[in-house]
Amino acid sequence: MTAAVEPGGQLTVGGLRLVDLAEQFGTPLFVYDEEHLRARCAEAVEAWGDGVAYATKAFLCRAMAQLAHQEGMCLDVSTGGELHVALRAGVAPERLVLHGNNKSAAELARAIEVGVGRIIVDSFDEIDRLRVLSVEAPAPPKVLVRVTPGVEAHTHEFVRTGHEDTKFGFSIASGAAWRAVEELRSLTGVDLAGIHAHIGSQVFDVSSFEQAAEILGRFFSPLGLDELCVGGGLGVAYVNGESAPSQAEWAEAVRAACRAEGVAPTTRITAEPGRSIVAGAAITLYRVGTVKALTDLRTYVAVDGGMSDNPRPVLYGSGYEAFLPREANAERPLGVRVVGKHCETGDIVVPEAWLPSDLAIGDILATPVTGAYGYSMASNYNKVPRPPVLFVADGRARVVVRGETLDDLLRLDT
Ligand code: LLP
Repeated sequence: MTAAVEPGGQLTVGGLRLVDLAEQFGTPLFVYDEEHLRARCAEAVEAWGDGVAYATKAFLCRAMAQLAHQEGMCLDVSTGGELHVALRAGVAPERLVLHGNNKSAAELARAIEVGVGRIIVDSFDEIDRLRVLSVEAPAPPKVLVRVTPGVEAHTHEFVRTGHEDTKFGFSIASGAAWRAVEELRSLTGVDLAGIHAHIGSQVFDVSSFEQAAEILGRFFSPLGLDELCVGGGLGVAYVNGESAPSQAEWAEAVRAACRAEGVAPTTRITAEPGRSIVAGAAITLYRVGTVKALTDLRTYVAVDGGMSDNPRPVLYGSGYEAFLPREANAERPLGVRVVGKHCETGDIVVPEAWLPSDLAIGDILATPVTGAYGYSMASNYNKVPRPPVLFVADGRARVVVRGETLDDLLRLDT
């Protein structure tokens, strides 16, 4: 959001030159535009109301948890690990929503003990665990039932969740969702507050959300419950030519579909965006190390990161753009494949990238829109240390996650 190009062509974010940040903090480097993060959170709260939760799986560290909390969002945590980070960031427990298709008894007990705001119940086995655990609960935990509306979201099959053949939630069509509602209603130790669904991620088509909301609305209306959460999934533009709906368009489409199905106007309708809050806020900086030009085949440009800091290309075939922040508006006539430094052919950063023809060894290369599911899915493959994460704003950079050292690679060895 604060990206600007100086007269000489240098790209700045948060008032700082990206090339200078790479020199100062090293590469690879994740740079997040703090204003952009805050604006996306505010937009989500404006569109959905203050029950809207940031899905922390997209990117989580204490600074991010604090930022989303300050901007008025709840936080969706899907494991005991995410719960721990959010609590240690100082997020009020009642602003947390716990997810997971296989929550352990320990995870549930911790959530109940600290008093998380909502637990999203995913299976009959979890209901059995809640039956036991709620006996000791300081107060009955508020729960939502996760249902599957049977909708095929138009997205990658690995991130589709709304269809029947899924490990998540209770099927509406089979009657399992209804049975889960009945079982939870009969449990005195829990407070059944509503229904939840999540149809998938990186969804561009508002009609998929509408379709799901119609089925959900039809199921929800007669139950007399107060809350309906439609999950996350709003798509994000990664490459030139893509465009995504806004939070407001998404919320309006969902609300209209719910109204048409008789959902009461007083119902708290919420969502859990992850990617759409953080993806566009960050850029990854790499340094070019080798260029291998193969006559009549292609040119490989290798950078000093790869599948350990961004596994999305290898996992989902995801596309990114690449450019040189030293001259952000330069023509990009050179077709290359940007690859990482890992010992695999699949270690691709950008399969078909276009770069300026004066590309040189030592150049800083940037891939934008890496704020979601990049750092959060980063690994130490090939014992590559994870990069640092910066938040930049108003001409200042702060390291919110330090880069790993070589000794960090040994810290768990006994
Ligand atoms: N709520 C639930 C229950 C979810 O499972 C997810 C994402 C979200 C919310 C947030 O969805 P978002 O708004 O971020 O699309 N690693 C994959 C994405 C996996 C999404 C998993 N669940 C990727 O890099 O594309």
